[in-house]
Amino acid sequence: NSLSISPTTAIQSPLQIFVRAKKRINDIYGEVEQYVNDSCKFLLVLPHDSDLITKEELLVVNSHVEKVKGIREVLLRDHMKVAFFGRTSNGKSTVINSMLRERILPSGIGHTTNCFIQVEKSENDESYLISEDSAERKNVKSVSQLAHSLCTGSLGDSALVRVYWPTDKCPLLRDDVVLVDSPGIDVSPNLDSWIDRHCLDADVFVLVANSESTLMLTEKNFFFKVSARLSKPNVFVLNNRWDASASEPEFLEEVRRQHLLRTVDFLVDELKVCGTRTEAEQRVFFVSAKEVLQARINEFKGLPMNTGIVTDGFHGRYFEFQDFERKFEECISKSAVRTKFDQHTKRGKAIVGDTRNVMEMLLERASAKRATKSQNRREVLDHLDFTEKQLQLVTVEMKDKICKMVEEVEHKVSKALND
Ligand code: GTP
Ligand code: MG
Repeated sequence: NSLSISPTTAIQSPLQIFVRAKKRINDIYGEVEQYVNDSCKFLLVLPHDSDLITKEELLVVNSHVEKVKGIREVLLRDHMKVAFFGRTSNGKSTVINSMLRERILPSGIGHTTNCFIQVEKSENDESYLISEDSAERKNVKSVSQLAHSLCTGSLGDSALVRVYWPTDKCPLLRDDVVLVDSPGIDVSPNLDSWIDRHCLDADVFVLVANSESTLMLTEKNFFFKVSARLSKPNVFVLNNRWDASASEPEFLEEVRRQHLLRTVDFLVDELKVCGTRTEAEQRVFFVSAKEVLQARINEFKGLPMNTGIVTDGFHGRYFEFQDFERKFEECISKSAVRTKFDQHTKRGKAIVGDTRNVMEMLLERASAKRATKSQNRREVLDHLDFTEKQLQLVTVEMKDKICKMVEEVEHKVSKALND
């Protein structure tokens, strides 16, 4: 309950739901750790031969100390993960760059991305990458340098390269979102291994489709495989390159309707990840990632957003991209809170419950022992009382006897003297 966020609280970005929940659960786990550690320390100083605690109970609390430590480490690393898939050149890398507001990932015509690239926040304001084949941190200062580093590696298309990037221009990274770029799904036979290695912990999937053509079987099949492994994955569909439609304005509405119909059919009837058509319609967007990236770079330079963008309808497409970002942020933060923190909350509750049971058993046994001891003490005191009284009686009797004896002796002596 403590994780639920009041709807009245003004939240700037929906991502804050996750950020605040993460902070809260970290604080709670700090208290859990203190409680479990204190309990363990207390139990360890009990005399070994005392029958207050069993070995099993001690082991339970001891193991919880390690468990809580492990969970705290995982919690610090927990993030929201979004994975982008689609055919080659549909614009996956460009979409990610637009969301990050910077040209970070290499993009271009032809088959550009040749392995998985995960972009996440850099803790020290430096940009660097770490690839799976070495633990070495390689500095990355520019997109061309990153492209070069990726080309020179002998990594397979399932391999992962982690790019750590400063957060000053990228609010998404600052709020613990991790974005995963992938090679085109049409150029790899390794889709099963992709799913095993990169999809199972993703909170949201974005299918980057090409609005100049249509949703292809390879794209659908990939998502059928994902959906077979994950129950109801969160899928967004971006019909990218929508700027192309501006050159054929007479067909624009019709093409849009056709794409929407096909995509909604796919999400509701085929993939079954959305319950209703209205829900599915909220997951489909018509955008131009290239324009958004250009506009954001312009904005950063202090230029008007549409500088150099000549295609009609730019503002509408830009707003649709922003709408996508808002809905995506809401979805990813809620999903990540549910999938990541729900488990931790349940485990935390069980750990605290177990520890409390042990401590309560200890208290019960200690109280019983104290009651027995005070009963014994009372009995001993009564016995001593009785003995004291007996002694007093005996003492009085003896005194009388001795007096009498003395009198008798005196009498006998004086009689003898007289005689
Ligand atoms: P791979 O990594 O090869 O799988 O491709 P990708 O899906 O990452 O595509 P990428 O982002 O590299 O884009 C391919 C080409 O399409 C680049 O030249 C982009 O500039 C261009 N492009 C991307 N998005 C758009 C768009 O919305 N409109 C137009 N006109 N071009 C785009
Ligand atoms: Mg790419």
